[in-house]
Amino acid sequence: MKVLGIETSCDECAAAVVEKGRDVLSNVILTQIDFHRPYYGVVPEIASRKHIEWIYQVVSTALDEAGMEIEDMDAIAVTYRPGLIGSLLVGLSFAKAMAFSLDIPFIGIDHILAHMYAAHLEADIEYPYLGLIVSGGHTILAVVKDYDKIEVLGTTIDDACGEAFDKVAKYYQLGFPGGAAIDRLARRGNSGAFRFPKPSLHKGDHRYDFSYSGLKTAVINQLDQFWNRKYPKTRENIAASFEKTAIDIILERVSRAVKDTGIERVVAGGGVVANSYLRGSLKSMFGDQVILPSMKFCTDNGAMVAGIGYHYIVNNRRSTLELNAEARVPDFRKTYP
Ligand code: KG4
Ligand code: ZN
Repeated sequence: MKVLGIETSCDECAAAVVEKGRDVLSNVILTQIDFHRPYYGVVPEIASRKHIEWIYQVVSTALDEAGMEIEDMDAIAVTYRPGLIGSLLVGLSFAKAMAFSLDIPFIGIDHILAHMYAAHLEADIEYPYLGLIVSGGHTILAVVKDYDKIEVLGTTIDDACGEAFDKVAKYYQLGFPGGAAIDRLARRGNSGAFRFPKPSLHKGDHRYDFSYSGLKTAVINQLDQFWNRKYPKTRENIAASFEKTAIDIILERVSRAVKDTGIERVVAGGGVVANSYLRGSLKSMFGDQVILPSMKFCTDNGAMVAGIGYHYIVNNRRSTLELNAEARVPDFRKTYP
């Protein structure tokens, strides 16, 4: 069973061919970074227009690199939510048209579940496990029970972690995309130069929740207040101190969840999981019990979409041509989706 996966939820135009949910035959990602860099953020109008220009070529290249023709595909999987609506619609409409013309099934995929699946492309992972999804739009800690079923322990009550990285990088003009720029600068900085505050969500229903707007405000508007004057106020030191605080918030909650639930296996996904301090810390805290996707499967890609799509298709679950794109997922607290 070969599935073509298409991902256009934000600024990566991506397609992949994956066999049996695991074997990645191709994984093509065309990034729009250069077009958004002048604005220090993704401009939705530019993103959807670039997807329209590129989608045909990206899908053709994915098929070529897999050594396949479109007729060799058994199904098409495509991200339909959450994301930028114009961008989502390009991939979704393209997938629907192809599936209709080839008379093969297509399935709309939730982007968050796809990020959670990414690690399964490279390892046999048994359910349940503690799942951590950290991206530009989401910060979720959950007990993952199956490819389509996660029980949410905590989520952000304001900004997402990646969003905080991007906003801090934009304010100090550290580079674009923000997360990767801060990661690079932080490697040359001292994380003790600033002692930024962490959210005080220790108890009750909120003990697994995240909050990043206070940290963002501290870094942007109250820098001097948290400055240890033994160290110079450099971009590198701001980046390192911010990164450590932002990631330690995550590490504390994962540790708490491992202790409380007794579940020792930790699997992570999403763009921020490319962060070297987060990867190193998870590895040193949880050793072999932590499973991280390689870098190319952390940020947006088509392989994770095709991979999870396989499981829907073999379970006879498919979408109809009426499926519409959705910018967000309706309010979730206990289960996802
Ligand atoms: O998963 P993703 O590609 O798109 C969304 O679904 O949001 O994640 C993008 C996010 C951005 O906020 C970006 O700044 C962040 O992932 N990111 C990083 C790193 N690489 C990407 N954050 C921290 N360190 C990185 N190395
Ligand atoms: Zn993503």
